[in-house]
Amino acid sequence: MNQYKMLTAEEHEERFLQPEYLPTRREFPTMTHENFLSEKEIELMNYYWNHPERMHIVDRSMQSVQEEMFGPGEYKTAEYNIFGSLYKNPWWAGIKEMLVPKVQKWLGHDIYIPHCHVLDSHYPYGIHTDNEQAGFVLAPHPAWTIIIPLEDYNSKTYIFNEISVGKHPTNLENKSDDMCISEEEFEKDFAGLATPKDWLKKLTLDGAYPWKAGSAICSDRYKYHSSDNYYNHGLKNKRAIIMWTTHI
Ligand SMILES: [Fe+2]
Repeated sequence: MNQYKMLTAEEHEERFLQPEYLPTRREFPTMTHENFLSEKEIELMNYYWNHPERMHIVDRSMQSVQEEMFGPGEYKTAEYNIFGSLYKNPWWAGIKEMLVPKVQKWLGHDIYIPHCHVLDSHYPYGIHTDNEQAGFVLAPHPAWTIIIPLEDYNSKTYIFNEISVGKHPTNLENKSDDMCISEEEFEKDFAGLATPKDWLKKLTLDGAYPWKAGSAICSDRYKYHSSDNYYNHGLKNKRAIIMWTTHI
């Protein structure tokens, strides 16, 4: 059988987006890896991210919110530069040869990368999970999300301990009367993104991980996580390699 055949979205949902699946899962601890990529390897990704063969998706879903914030104009919400069929597409051989051995050495030889893209974020992504994308038939179980910033950014990713098959923490019970972060952090990093305070009462903080060029952050794809409101840290956008991994 073709090792890199993908599960269908339906098969993925039936098996991996059901609450009964959660207690059967392994643990995927949050970790960071300093200098996961060298400067040369970052340069290579800076060559590939605009490659004419990549799939290029521009999301403008927050256009009206951005206009309210910054005035009239055309805004990107995010740009996804996707290296589809990473294992099979000869255009991506250089990326595959660089990333696959490094990821497997770090996270295990049963870890695969069915999804790899360079995200250019122009609107900070609020609290969500990364469990939606289907894996390979032979490695179908969602494992870690990996983030590798392509520059140093005055920004961080908040990761929470709670896991879910849902996308946003709407249905969870409040765990506490208090938020898991301070009022100041809420104002600076969440209020401007219209995140309800309640969401921060349903969650507990795993950590807030700074974006450093070439340093990798990995976390469980079912864990809630969020960008900070990087507009309040002097940034208009930020770029990173994103991988959604699976295991056998
Ligand atoms: Fe995410």
